[in-house]
Amino acid sequence: MLDVREYVLKTPPGGVKRYDHDALCDLLKVEDRSRVIFEQGVGREAIVRIYPSNPLMGVREMTADDLVMDGRGRITIGTYFDGSPLRFRLFDPKTGNAQRGAVFGTTGAGKSRLVQAILVACKRSGIVVHLADLKHGQSVPEAKGNTATRVTTQYEAILMLRGLVAEAERRMIVYGERGSSGFVIGAPDPLMYGIVDEANRLLEKGAPFRDEAAQLIKELGRTGRSVGVGIIIAAQAGHLDELGGSDTLRAMLKEGEVILLRWSSAMMQQLVGDGLLPRGESLQPIPKVVGQVRKIRRYNEQRADDEDDVNSQGMLYHLTGIRPTSMGRTFVVGSVAPTPGYDPVILDLYGSGAPPGEAIDLEAHVTAKERKAAGEGGEGDEDGDAASGVPAPEPEPDVTRMSTAERILAVLPADGLAEVDLLAALEADGGRRVARASVRTNISAMRGKGKLARPDGTGLIVRAPAD
Ligand SMILES: Nc1ncnc2c1ncn2[C@@H]1O[C@H](COP(=O)(O)OP(=O)(O)OP(=O)(O)O)[C@@H](O)[C@H]1O
Ligand SMILES: [Mg+2]
Repeated sequence: MLDVREYVLKTPPGGVKRYDHDALCDLLKVEDRSRVIFEQGVGREAIVRIYPSNPLMGVREMTADDLVMDGRGRITIGTYFDGSPLRFRLFDPKTGNAQRGAVFGTTGAGKSRLVQAILVACKRSGIVVHLADLKHGQSVPEAKGNTATRVTTQYEAILMLRGLVAEAERRMIVYGERGSSGFVIGAPDPLMYGIVDEANRLLEKGAPFRDEAAQLIKELGRTGRSVGVGIIIAAQAGHLDELGGSDTLRAMLKEGEVILLRWSSAMMQQLVGDGLLPRGESLQPIPKVVGQVRKIRRYNEQRADDEDDVNSQGMLYHLTGIRPTSMGRTFVVGSVAPTPGYDPVILDLYGSGAPPGEAIDLEAHVTAKERKAAGEGGEGDEDGDAASGVPAPEPEPDVTRMSTAERILAVLPADGLAEVDLLAALEADGGRRVARASVRTNISAMRGKGKLARPDGTGLIVRAPAD
């Protein structure tokens, strides 16, 4: 490669124990720390490369093809600094195992975009996915209508996880009776995932459902994977112990797929302590701003205008991959600048059409006690009952009590939907099934009342412009 200086270093046996990136850069006289890449090789070898600029700055855009699972059960989510593909496993055909995965990173590091990529991969690969987006549905908005289940509150997330555990149990019994020892995709069941973005909200200290959430996730990690029911969480936390306490995640993640996006170096150290990174391995820190030079300026020297713009989103380590200490980056997922409505680039990645699978029937997993606490399902009393110890579910429009017209308006994105997609979105919104004929009747009635725009020849069903 042109302009890349490379040094092969002999290290002490077992690798470099403590690695000081700043000191190395000073030694090499490189001011822009992100141009220097250190990689511990096997045995006693390490490589230091100095690039003209950080090699991960110009990654290409993600394509739908990257996200179709290959014969080995992997998708390509990005690249390592040297250009080799960074793959994430969703299935292991050799063992028939679904995966348990985790994406960690500080705020803005790119967790939700990566989750979005995994959701696209599921839709594109025939994997049934049930999503909890615990930032009120705002983390991965484009997933609406593109996943079998989509919930946005903690209580619903618990119901969803209960549903996933129940499905894993059902499969175990059926497979056991059939005498089959392993899971094969589509014979007869599909590969299935539960994905929880902002899982820290569910698992942090003081969270209302912390213990049950931790237990359900642990259960899925333990029993789900051999019957094709996997679990992936995305979270920010200072320490694994914050996520559900004890060793819930530690055990689960050691054999799963773990991705570490930008995190403070102190937190990275704790991960080593948590056993997620082999002892003796060190990670070069991921800077918030790549290319920044900490140089003293003369008083009339100008700083570049974009000098402090965050530009390292998506940079990561695939801790459980083949190269845990090599810096990589996800491909660009969607528009980098926020879009006013749904991001068209991301919608394109999902593609049109309904997602595979059916929604989990959340109602079926409400316990008798919770039903009672919520006032026998009566109107109004959603506040729970402090005395019974059942936390109150977050208030949320209850799809089961909405009219078809209200549900249509609720699922319609700003740029409208084709009829098939609208039908799919209604299938997936958690409410009761509506026949196509009834949807059509509602649409024409809503057009009559000025709630939907008149047909304009594109075939799209679009909300009427706000007056
Ligand atoms: N792979 C990516 N491709 C393009 N832009 C990205 C990517 N990852 C992150 N970004 C940019 O960074 C911003 C933050 O990313 P994202 O929402 O995924 O972070 P997050 O880790 O989920 O943050 P939070 O903790 O606030 O939820 C995005 O709005 C986008 O502008
Ligand atoms: Mg997020």
